[in-house]
Amino acid sequence: MILVTGGAGYIGSHTVLALKEAGHEVVILDNLSRGHRDLVFSDHFEEGDLQNFPYLDSVFSKYPIQAVVHFAASSLVGESMKDPESYYYNNICGTLNLLRAMRKKGVIKLVFSSTAAVYGEPAVIPIMENYPLEPTNVYGETKVAIENMLSRYYSAYGFSSISFRYFNAAGADPDGRTGEDHTPETHLIALVLDVALGKRKNITVFGNDYPTEDGTCIRDYIHVSDLARAHVLGLDKLLSGLEGKFAFNLGNGHGYSVLDIVEKAREVTGRYIPSLEGERREGDPPILVASSEKAESVLGWQRRYPDIRDIISTAWNWHLKRFGS
Ligand code: UFG
Repeated sequence: MILVTGGAGYIGSHTVLALKEAGHEVVILDNLSRGHRDLVFSDHFEEGDLQNFPYLDSVFSKYPIQAVVHFAASSLVGESMKDPESYYYNNICGTLNLLRAMRKKGVIKLVFSSTAAVYGEPAVIPIMENYPLEPTNVYGETKVAIENMLSRYYSAYGFSSISFRYFNAAGADPDGRTGEDHTPETHLIALVLDVALGKRKNITVFGNDYPTEDGTCIRDYIHVSDLARAHVLGLDKLLSGLEGKFAFNLGNGHGYSVLDIVEKAREVTGRYIPSLEGERREGDPPILVASSEKAESVLGWQRRYPDIRDIISTAWNWHLKRFGS
């Protein structure tokens, strides 16, 4: 059985579906602070917090857990700068508790949710996994700290792990079972679709004087179901005996500017999406685009939905179903 922490969240719920489709039995642990009860796709659900060590310990006693996929974390860059303590506590202490509980029961295989924010503002694009880890925000720092812990856990305890450094997760389950539902919502595509739905008046473009063709920031948007399948591949490698501490970028290798996304969303939805020019958002790097060659060659990862229109249209279908009219 596989324990998925944060399995009621955005990437977590898609990964639970992918794990089950691949034949894995799953137990979900989520404190529902950001996750949703109706997005729990397993009969085995534990509502609880990683901060509670005795409770975690009891979860490992209750189920025959072979490996863990660990999403549960705070993940907003801006919030992490305003309240660093809650990020250190929730992300670093929470993960340390999880690792202790795992080791106590001899569970030594982990797939970990990392981020492109570990790289900060790299000078060379596309970004490779061996680039320096120089995060410019607290969120990214917590993920680097945990990746470092995982290296030490391998050398000291033979604890094997795969860290996936996601670029911009977007889109929704093509069958409409789950999708993005954040409160507050801060992600570009979801906000643009809120405007298309009429839930927001307009989208503010954060900065138009970046060194890019149209002056707006470029990001690498990757379909969340493609991310989910990478977790299954990684997990299966660990279960079949891969040993070590590994890190893989997960992106499409293609960048879209903020204005490109607004334009594509207008095409996909056929709706009016007014945009406003706004100030730069603090800490936004101009361009983040991944090289994911390592995940392709080592894990055999292939994307099913690389087209930005598929990413936006699956998100739009979900948005209409969940929030819309
Ligand atoms: N943006 C706008 N207007 C908005 C919201 C976003 O112009 O209302 C812009 C941002 O400035 C950025 C782009 O749209 O240039 C994408 O912004 P998101 O907030 O959707 O995503 P980020 O690239 O800031 O962050 C995402 C994840 C983080 C992760 C990071 C790694 O949300 O968790 O990718 O690069 F750390």
